[in-house]
Amino acid sequence: MQTFLRGRDLISDLDFSKEEVETVLDVAWDLKRKRAVGEPHPYLRDKTLGLLFFFSSTRTRCSFESGMAQLGGHAAFIESRTTQISHGDTATEIGQILGRYFDGIAIRHCDWRVGNGYLNGVAEASRAPVLNMQCDVYHPFQCLADLMTVMEKKGRDLRKKKIVVSWAYASSYLKPISVPQSLILQMPRFGMDVTLAYPEEFMLMPEIVDEAKAQARKYGTGFEIVHDMAEGFRDADVVYAKSWGPLLTTDDPVEGKKLQDKYQDWITDAAKMRVAAPDAIYMHPLPADRDIEVTSEVMDGPQSVVFDQAENRLHAQKAVMALTMW
Ligand code: CP
Repeated sequence: MQTFLRGRDLISDLDFSKEEVETVLDVAWDLKRKRAVGEPHPYLRDKTLGLLFFFSSTRTRCSFESGMAQLGGHAAFIESRTTQISHGDTATEIGQILGRYFDGIAIRHCDWRVGNGYLNGVAEASRAPVLNMQCDVYHPFQCLADLMTVMEKKGRDLRKKKIVVSWAYASSYLKPISVPQSLILQMPRFGMDVTLAYPEEFMLMPEIVDEAKAQARKYGTGFEIVHDMAEGFRDADVVYAKSWGPLLTTDDPVEGKKLQDKYQDWITDAAKMRVAAPDAIYMHPLPADRDIEVTSEVMDGPQSVVFDQAENRLHAQKAVMALTMW
């Protein structure tokens, strides 16, 4: 068990070793138990976390703010448009300055080909740890909550369990590719066989897919790519189906929407869930385009674990904050 994570950034899913992720999970379950029985756990009393958002959020903002309060500290919500960033504060200046005010800086910046570089720029200049609340490449805290949820539902030994990470149709907007990328990087380390399903134009970043394949080889797990949603679902123990934009094909939103609209039949419905294992769970990080990405029947049905998933954001994030910010 590797426990010394004080001062560490979490920007990419692989920034923490497998053993360190196991430590995070152990602490997360301990904190979940403490909250369940009303046991105070002010591990970060008098500590502060800056929450810098360049993109909207429900779960991430609320769980980080609430989590810091439960740990005895304070989180400051900072909407980037209310700052002087557009008037010239650079990533280095933000790292230097906020790193002196706060004990941690959490950032959400999902702009394609901008966000991840921004987070790393802040981290290079900051003396406080930088936590990635989602960038254009990774969504590591979502993935930690997802892993925690899968283990709660399927057991801690996930070898021979299949997760399908599938694209789904959405009409609302072109969603980031960070969630599927984080999943395919992290899940092989915990023994899961990964099937990635998407229409041809919705490929993920080749370097991320290559790294995911390398992780699968290292841990002796399966990794395959298919271009048919139902084929991907076949015998899956975990169905994780959500939309993302065709960013590697085009970064033009109008062109992207046209491509997306070709695949309106990529919806998670009861018929597709029947192709998965009988006790398969359905996962989605939310928000979902209801009855477009997934039918309400599935989303509100007995196989759906989306609310447990959302809850586990709180516990996983508190664990990382407690380990990195003391
Ligand atoms: N899943 C997730 O990150 O939700 P929000 O965008 O609401 O934070």
